[in-house]
Amino acid sequence: MASTMLSLASVSPSASLSTHETPKGKVKLGSSFLSLNKGRNNLFAKTESFGRISMVAAVNVSKFEGVTMAPPDPILGVSEAFKASTNQSKLNLGVGAYRTEELQPYVLDVVKKAENLMIERGENKEYLPIEGLAAFNKVTAELLFGADNPVIKQQKVATVQGLSGTGSLRLAAALIERYFPGAKVLISSPTWGNHKNIFNDSRVPWSEYRYYDPKTVGLDFEGMISDIKAAPEGSFVLLHGCAHNPTGIDPTPDQWEKIADVIQEKNHIPFFDVAYQGFASGSLDTDAASVRLFAARGLELLVAQSYSKNLGLYAERIGAINVVCTSSDTATRVKSQLKRIARPMYSNPPVHGARIVANVVGDPTLFGEWKAEMEMMAGRIKNVRQKLYDNLTAKDKSGKDWSFILKQIGMFSFTGLNKAQTENMTNKWHVYMTKDGRISLAGLSLAKCEYLSDAIIDSYHNVS
Ligand SMILES: Cc1ncc(COP(=O)(O)O)c(C=O)c1O
Repeated sequence: MASTMLSLASVSPSASLSTHETPKGKVKLGSSFLSLNKGRNNLFAKTESFGRISMVAAVNVSKFEGVTMAPPDPILGVSEAFKASTNQSKLNLGVGAYRTEELQPYVLDVVKKAENLMIERGENKEYLPIEGLAAFNKVTAELLFGADNPVIKQQKVATVQGLSGTGSLRLAAALIERYFPGAKVLISSPTWGNHKNIFNDSRVPWSEYRYYDPKTVGLDFEGMISDIKAAPEGSFVLLHGCAHNPTGIDPTPDQWEKIADVIQEKNHIPFFDVAYQGFASGSLDTDAASVRLFAARGLELLVAQSYSKNLGLYAERIGAINVVCTSSDTATRVKSQLKRIARPMYSNPPVHGARIVANVVGDPTLFGEWKAEMEMMAGRIKNVRQKLYDNLTAKDKSGKDWSFILKQIGMFSFTGLNKAQTENMTNKWHVYMTKDGRISLAGLSLAKCEYLSDAIIDSYHNVS
């Protein structure tokens, strides 16, 4: 820690203090004066009394004294609180991470197989190029758009490996800030909490479009369309490719067409965040339909991808940013600028996750096995969703319609519980969740559905 130490421990009580003494009772520290004799509560000065004079034993002033305590992260902070709880019934429904029926983290079999292949091949740990592993970039764009998509065949996609979904969004935000100064990004209300942080830190202005309708616990489609229409021409519109986080509410295929119409009319630029491909429906192709629909219209678009959820590679930080351009020439230039942004940020990306993805997606046998495992994971979440709904309906005698839970998709369910009700969930029932009422069904087991429905019913009816 940067600090200034004035150690006078070796100075005898009779030593002259004249060099540190002016003005009276103060010690000069750099260009400022520090008071002595401020009593034992002075955090900066440890004083020792020797008769008439007080002597500084050590003064430790941090240059970071003005740094305030940051609030805990609204999502990752929930996991910390969960870990600290000793209650036997506790449930962590905060973070969007897949758990087994025994509520344990899960490493996919295909990931283990891909890692074994890497060991057998004796892969080295040399730096990757700035844009990442070529084999990864190829398969990731193909997975997203489909290998036969004209945008792939005509090399119109600039793909750069990123530090998972977050890092890929951050690269895109930096590109927007540099090449579209003043352009706004429209984000859904609500959205994944980190979107705002990413655009704030990148100095990209953003505003919200209506998305969630609390009355129906469904999509406010009219509101969404009119807000996208009202935005300044040429804005970026951030869309969740599938499994909207936090609501679990996705537009229907018809609604996606209408969203594309408005975006096209207004000359906006669609910017997809695809963090759950395959995890929403269980099918990689179905979950990429929204992105492919926009690409088929010949629109230029951005897509951030993540393999945290669908391959369970949370800590490997593997994802990509793709920019679809109108020509391969533009794509080459855009890619060169993405690399230029990445170089001073983190130089080049990590190799391990990229090799896993390249091995799994690039190998027909492993690819088939991955699809089966993903269906299994998505299926477990669907079963839990159904059981939660069944329990709520059977146990809640008030006649409340809980069917909105079945209309939601993906890892999350937006329960409609308000802040006070979510606090009751945590304080009384030890169910750890974010304050916006979102629960991660991926952290729930069939065995715990009944307990959770008791907690929800109590919080909903007994807390206002
Ligand atoms: C909507 C959305 N985008 C992006 C991410 C990025 O996650 P990661 O950085 O782990 O890939 C998440 C993770 O929860 C998410 O929900």
